[in-house]
Amino acid sequence: MTLGPISAATRTWVPAMVPWRATADGQVTDAVVAWYERFARGRPGVIVVEATGIRDVPSGPLLRASHDRYVEGLSRLVDAVKRASGGETKLFIQLIDFLAIKRRAPRESFIARFLDVEAVRPRLGPAWHHPSAEALRAHLASLEPAHLDSLLDARERESLHQGFRERVTDLDAPHIAALPRVLPGLFADAAARCRAAGFDGVELHFAHAYTLASFLSALNTRPDGYGGAKEHRVRLPLEVIAAVRARVDGVVGARFLADEIIDGGSSPDDIDFFAVEFARAGLDFLSLSRGGKFEDAKQPKTGHAAYPYTGRSGHECMPTPKLEGSPWSRNRGAVARIRRAVRAAGFETPVVLCGGISSFEQAEDVLAAGDADVVASARQAIADPDWFLKVREGRGEDIRRCFFTNYCEGLDQAHEVVTCQRWDRLRGLPDDDTTPRTPDGRRLTAP
Ligand SMILES: Cc1cc2nc3c(=O)[nH]c(=O)nc-3n(C[C@H](O)[C@H](O)[C@H](O)COP(=O)(O)O)c2cc1C
Ligand code: SF4
Repeated sequence: MTLGPISAATRTWVPAMVPWRATADGQVTDAVVAWYERFARGRPGVIVVEATGIRDVPSGPLLRASHDRYVEGLSRLVDAVKRASGGETKLFIQLIDFLAIKRRAPRESFIARFLDVEAVRPRLGPAWHHPSAEALRAHLASLEPAHLDSLLDARERESLHQGFRERVTDLDAPHIAALPRVLPGLFADAAARCRAAGFDGVELHFAHAYTLASFLSALNTRPDGYGGAKEHRVRLPLEVIAAVRARVDGVVGARFLADEIIDGGSSPDDIDFFAVEFARAGLDFLSLSRGGKFEDAKQPKTGHAAYPYTGRSGHECMPTPKLEGSPWSRNRGAVARIRRAVRAAGFETPVVLCGGISSFEQAEDVLAAGDADVVASARQAIADPDWFLKVREGRGEDIRRCFFTNYCEGLDQAHEVVTCQRWDRLRGLPDDDTTPRTPDGRRLTAP
C-alpha cells in the first residue's frame, strides 16, 4: 500500500489513541514505549502515535513535540517500534492543537469569580444600575436557578452548566484571532521535530473537538476569511498542510470527520469538498473518524471538564453495542462516499476507515468492496495487539475480541493510564507476577 513516499506492508492500521502515559510535562516514558512496542509486535501496516501537542505550554500527561527537548524521547519510541516489528510497521504521529476548556465551577464560585456581572447588570431592573458589583453578585447568587438562567446569555449559561470553553469564533480574544497566523508555523515546527526523531510521517489532527476540526465545522462563522463558506473554513487546514509540506519530506496525512454528528454541523457535500481539497493539496492519506464533539457533551460534574465523547457524537466516535443499530463499521457508508468523491476528482489518495472494525470478514469486505483502502482498529487492537498478525496467520480463533463496552474510554475520560479490562480477566492463562502494573494493580500491557 503506497502512502506518498513510502509503502506499508499491509492495509492495517492502529489509529491514534492517548493512553495517558507521558510525564506531567509531556515526555515519553517507559510505559509509553511499552504501549507502542506491544502494538508493533502485532505488525500492523501503520501505527499512529497518540495526539501530541504542538504548543510548549503545560498540558498534563499529553505527549508533546513542542520543543527540541522532546526529540530524544520520541526517537526512543520510534526505535522500539522499528525493533519490535522488524522494521515492518510504519510509524506516524498525530499532531494536535486544542483550545482552552475549564472545569465546571460550583455555581457560587462561577458567580463570584467567572461571571462578568457588568454584562448582566443592564438585564436587571433600574434598581440594580448602581449597587456595587459585590452586591450584584450576592443578588445573583440568591436567585432560583431558572431565574438566574433567564438573566444569562447562551454562552454564560453554557459556562455555568458545562464549564467555560473557548471557540474559534471568539475573535475578541487576540490569541484566537491570531490562530491563522500562528498555527501553520507551530504545526510545521512540530512535524520537523517528529521527522528528526525518526517518524515516517505525521497525521494532522483535524478531527473531533479540537481547533482545526472547529475551523472546518459549519458552526465556524469567523468573519475574517477563515469561517462561513466551506471554501473559507478549509483555508486554515490547507495553510497548515502547506506549511508542514514545506518543512518535512515524509508522509503527511490528516484525520478529519466523515460526519460531525451535531446539529448545524458540516453537510456531506462540505465534507466531500474538504476531502478533495486535502487530496489536491497533496496529502498522502485521508483518515476518517466520526463525531467526538463538545457541542452535545454530557454535563460534567462540578470540578470536572466536559468530555467530548459523552454525547451522541461521542458515542458515534467510539461505538458500543448500546447504540441504536450496530456498532460495526459505523463509518463505512460515509467513508465510501468520501472515497468516491476523491476518486471522481481524479485523486488516488488512500482513505482510512475506522470505527467498530474487529473481525477479518468485516475488514476484508470493506477492502474488497473498495469502500476504503486501509482498515484501522483502535479498541480491537488494544484488546489484542496481535490480532492483525493472528488473522494473517489464520489463527482467528485465538483472537481476544474487544467487548466494545468502553472501560478503556472511561479511563481516558478520567485521564488515567489506559489499559484494557480483557488484559486483567484471563481465563486459563497463568497470572504473571512479573508483569508491570499500574499502582491500582492493572496490567500495563496486553498479555
Ligand atoms: C483510549 C482511547 C484514546 C483515543 N485517543 C485518540 C487520539 O488521541 N486521537 C484520535 O484521533 N482518536 C483517538 N481515539 C479514537 C480512536 O482512534 C478511534 O477513532 C475510535 O476508538 C473508534 O475506533 P474503534 O471502534 O476501532 O475503537 C481514542 C480512542 C480510545 C479508545
Ligand atoms: S477495555 Fe473494553 S472496549 Fe476497551 S479495548 Fe478492552 S475490551 Fe475493548
